Amino acid sequence: MPRKFNFGAGPATMPESVLLEVQEELLDWNGLGLSVMEISHRSPEFIEIAKQAETDFRDLLSITDDYAVLFTHGGATMQNAAVPLNLASKEGIADYVNSGHWAKRSMKEAERYTNINVAASSEHNNFNYFPEQNSWTVSEDSSYIHYTPNETIGGLCLRTIEYSDVPIVADYSSGILSEPIDIDKFSLIYGGAQKNIGPSGLGFVVVKKDLLGNAQSITPNLLNYTLIHEGESMSNTPPTFAWYVAGKVFKWLKSLGGVEEIGKINNRKAKKLYQFIDDSNFYENNINKENRSIMNIPFLLRNDDLDTKFLSESKNAGLLALKGHRSVGGMRASIYNGLPEEAVDTLIEFMDDFEKKNS
Ligand SMILES: Cc1ncc(COP(=O)(O)O)c(C=O)c1O
Repeated sequence: MPRKFNFGAGPATMPESVLLEVQEELLDWNGLGLSVMEISHRSPEFIEIAKQAETDFRDLLSITDDYAVLFTHGGATMQNAAVPLNLASKEGIADYVNSGHWAKRSMKEAERYTNINVAASSEHNNFNYFPEQNSWTVSEDSSYIHYTPNETIGGLCLRTIEYSDVPIVADYSSGILSEPIDIDKFSLIYGGAQKNIGPSGLGFVVVKKDLLGNAQSITPNLLNYTLIHEGESMSNTPPTFAWYVAGKVFKWLKSLGGVEEIGKINNRKAKKLYQFIDDSNFYENNINKENRSIMNIPFLLRNDDLDTKFLSESKNAGLLALKGHRSVGGMRASIYNGLPEEAVDTLIEFMDDFEKKNS
């Protein structure tokens, strides 16, 4: 059966060549006569996989030795607790930029472990733009400012960060590896793997080493960045299979030319879909143009009575998971690294055809 195009927000489409390699190696990895799933995380073979994945991830993002790279459990949500536990104190304060669903989730969890100040918000405008950096009002003695560079549900993003007054922390779940970023601007970035990195279950944290060593005393060992770093992300059994697949995705990305090249492809994919939506009177996207995500493109049918028909016909055409998140409705096309450009072209053809038949 031919593979379909998956526009789901995550777990997301994987590069087909990676899936084929995994399939090929599934029963017998590297001549061991075992699946990689069946070998110890402490074996020299797995440690080699883990180290190589870290090296490739570092290369892709030009991460220097000033930063620790941690591979974690619990996706991004776990880090919503780990960040304040490691970087802030119970009595202290941390700032958050409220740009939508995921920013709010981060704040809600963080306020259990420190005091929160909302430095800026676009909630009053239904999150149709990213709060401008010159409007961020950061508290005195703030431990850090947290923002969500790519709001996966709202489809808005902040592409470059200029702010530098306090340590910057970013939830990069849905933007990681989609285009180059200047890692030196950040004190910490984190995210779940299941969009641009690999299978769910794995998370990543890139943290400046000089911020380690300050965790609150209540911090569980498994969330303590210093201990995770000292234990080389193997304080307990890590999600080995996801880590192995992530390593293959990093190699795939490097073979394409790295984040520079994928960034060009991603911008091209997003541009043509936005262009099509903007040129049509049938579909719309209400996000401020400068803040439009290149990974998650929500759109509405101006006549929402046609939503169900659109979803059923797109599914029949092999275009899956286009339903928007229940909190915003409409449609959403998530077009991560692993989704080929052909998928976007096919979606545009389908949308054009649907418009002609239903206008
Ligand atoms: C920006 C962002 N942050 C956090 C999360 C939650 O991630 P996880 O399910 O890995 O905890 C998601 C999931 O889609 C996300 O898109």
